[in-house]
Amino acid sequence: MTDIPQQPDNAADSGQRRGIKSFVLRQGHMTAAQQRAIDENWPQFGLDFQAAPVDLNAAFGRDNPKVLEIGFGMGTATAEIAQRLPEKDFLAIDVHGPGVGNLLKLIAENQITNIRVMRHDAVEVVESMLGESSLDGIHIFFPDPWHKKRHNKRRLIQAPFVAKLLPKLKSGGYIHLATDWQEYAEQMLEVLSSFAELQNTAADYAPTPSYRPETKFEARGKRLGHGVWDLVFEKR
Ligand SMILES: C[S@@+](CC[C@H](N)C(=O)[O-])C[C@H]1O[C@@H](n2cnc3c(N)ncnc32)[C@H](O)[C@@H]1O
Repeated sequence: MTDIPQQPDNAADSGQRRGIKSFVLRQGHMTAAQQRAIDENWPQFGLDFQAAPVDLNAAFGRDNPKVLEIGFGMGTATAEIAQRLPEKDFLAIDVHGPGVGNLLKLIAENQITNIRVMRHDAVEVVESMLGESSLDGIHIFFPDPWHKKRHNKRRLIQAPFVAKLLPKLKSGGYIHLATDWQEYAEQMLEVLSSFAELQNTAADYAPTPSYRPETKFEARGKRLGHGVWDLVFEKR
């Protein structure tokens, strides 16, 4: 990750103000195959940002449970989960172009029909495009840990963002987070536990649910000797 110029201190401690992004747009090389996958498959499986609520049933062409995934990276875990859970529909969002191309390539190669891909800041999608109680689940796997103290404010999992996410989740729906950074895991536990409408499905960290394969970022963390923490909370 690139080092970001520091914000003035008064902006630093409030977190997630407008303008503080949870990602840095990396240049990243788009392969010819990834670009072709976008050109050929975006019309069918891509979803453009709009600043108004979207009809997810219309976007997927059916009225099945909807799961939002924020930050799918290269999309390998997303594609596998969608095939393991064919009765669910997955709205997968990332800002990283080569990853978008890679996921669209995986969708085409494996004839996956239950994923729609967005290339946009998921915070804005949550704020503008998702209706109340429109989601049955939320997946956020290995969000950027922003491990330097002065960058912690860029972390996605902070109370203000979770407060925006929760109304979009149905009662009985779940939020599943995973991280390989212990101190972020502790922050996730503290943030989710602070919401009365969320109930932890475990005493603290949850066993990795069987539908979640190892992600690319997780494999990298393991190579570096990191641990892995999953959290699964249900909305009352
Ligand atoms: C560390 S990577 C993990 C990728 C994948 N989940 C994995 O486990 O391999 C985090 C991803 O989240 C994406 N991301 C971060 N903030 C985002 C945001 N606000 N909206 C959409 N994607 C975001 C980044 O572009 C990056 O691809």
